Amino acid sequence: MINMILRDVIADDLPIFFEHQLDPEATEMAAFPPRTREAFMAHWARLLADPTLIKQTILVDRHIVGNIVCYPDAGSMYVGYWIGKHWWGQGIATQALTAFLQQIAVRPLYAYAAKHNLASLRVLQKCGFTICDEGTQHPDAQATEIDEVLLICRV
Ligand SMILES: CC(C)(COP(=O)(O)OP(=O)(O)OC[C@H]1O[C@@H](n2cnc3c(N)ncnc32)[C@H](O)[C@@H]1OP(=O)(O)O)[C@@H](O)C(=O)NCCC(=O)NCCS
Repeated sequence: MINMILRDVIADDLPIFFEHQLDPEATEMAAFPPRTREAFMAHWARLLADPTLIKQTILVDRHIVGNIVCYPDAGSMYVGYWIGKHWWGQGIATQALTAFLQQIAVRPLYAYAAKHNLASLRVLQKCGFTICDEGTQHPDAQATEIDEVLLICRV
């Protein structure tokens, strides 16, 4: 079993999250282009200032390995997450999302994934999400040609 915990995001975590989202393989998976440092820090400053968002840092053996967030959009609640590439393939996202779902009572909960992001689709489906729409576009997505899948969790 991985020694993983979640805690609230603090400003000191942000440089590590910034490095995680620079990785080209990760940004291709997520279909989100990397943000510049300035844009990334401004984005996270908005997230940290918004009490309606749940923002948690994923720690494994005290290492900051990624983040998981819950945010509202158009009246629904969505989950999103990002794990640093060094830590992929160890079940961390699955364990983090499982723990996160136990902490937040809101249902249904939605998630977008690029159709080609098979690892994220697998994580979501292992955690009880099912596909409810395909060919949709995440409101924040900048790559308009990417097919997105919308998933829902009711449990
Ligand atoms: C997607 C992501 C969160 C997965 O994190 P992770 O900690 O490696 O995920 P886990 O190890 O918990 O589980 C990954 C699952 O996907 C599977 N998987 C990985 N690559 C796969 C592929 N190419 N095809 C099919 N399944 C794949 C793994 O086998 C595993 O399933 P299993 O436990 O049944 O074997 C991570 O790669 C990431 O942060 N990527 C960049 C950002 C991103 O895509 N965020 C999500 C946006 S929706």
